[in-house]
Amino acid sequence: MSSDPFMRTYAPRRQSYSQGAARPAAGSRPAANTTAASDLLAPYVVKEEPYYHPVADEVELYEAAYSVRMPMMLKGPTGCGKTRFVEYMAWRLGKPLITVACNEDMTASDLVGRYLLDASGTRWQDGPLAVAARHGAICYLDEVVEARQDTTVVIHPLTDARRVLPLEKKGELIEAHPDFQIVISYNPGYQSLMKDLKQSTKQRFGALDFNYPEHDIEAEIVAHESGVDIETAKNLVHIGERARNLKGHGLDEGLSTRMLIYAGSLIAKGVPPLAACRVALVRPITDDPDMRDALDSAVTTYF
Ligand SMILES: Nc1ncnc2c1ncn2[C@@H]1O[C@H](COP(=O)(O)OP(=O)(O)O)[C@@H](O)[C@H]1O
Ligand SMILES: [Mg+2]
Repeated sequence: MSSDPFMRTYAPRRQSYSQGAARPAAGSRPAANTTAASDLLAPYVVKEEPYYHPVADEVELYEAAYSVRMPMMLKGPTGCGKTRFVEYMAWRLGKPLITVACNEDMTASDLVGRYLLDASGTRWQDGPLAVAARHGAICYLDEVVEARQDTTVVIHPLTDARRVLPLEKKGELIEAHPDFQIVISYNPGYQSLMKDLKQSTKQRFGALDFNYPEHDIEAEIVAHESGVDIETAKNLVHIGERARNLKGHGLDEGLSTRMLIYAGSLIAKGVPPLAACRVALVRPITDDPDMRDALDSAVTTYF
């Protein structure tokens, strides 16, 4: 099959996870915390506690899911805290986190690895999924539906009881390290029939729903992240809530927490609130003049 991702040839790429790492012999299962593995995973250790404000019982549920190494799916609109949550959980669990931002040009080899040409011939380079599975990290595939379905199926053998990753080109079967876990995120709002996860993929995951936090929590997050005072943050959240009510009535997506933080950051830098909201909230999400007017008037209600 010409579209078989394993049949392609690849240009060599340098990737940070390959740097200076001694690899265990093919087929061997690395012991936890070998020097080689901890050196290799060092760049992925979350050293400082990421700021994360829990919104419900997601922290406890995720801990329970990790304790049985259940593959997890984080669902929710863009900019509502999914990525921050995974970073926080990796820190809390003390596990390295390897994040892959998925896109439609991504191939199975970008995840599992490929042979590279160098001065001394060819050498195998593990992809991020193989590094995580071999050495024991949490592998986070961000916005997984952006990847083509023939790419996503490579995660299947890692998400059932076998917990293995076949490296077909190399002729090796990696048995996942006991610490390994796979996490994916996606935004159900964006899905079209062509761009959705296969049922056979979905059913391999436990799922946590994410949404914009409720008013007071979101204001606290916006104040913390942007540096504005809590009153200003509350006003921004009010504007966000107004805009979210317009979703489906001319707006495809509501204003995200991330956008409110952007607006707050500009205000904290001295930009007048009206201008800050126009730049960070209104202009990015719509080109429709009526919708812009409606949002601008929501802004002037609060600033
Ligand atoms: N519960 C939360 N606690 C702390 N920060 C949050 C929370 N939710 C959202 N944020 C903030 O919003 C920003 C966007 O969240 P992010 O995790 O990147 O969204 P997503 O991955 O869902 O698109 C983060 O950088 C963070 O500043
Ligand atoms: Mg994200």
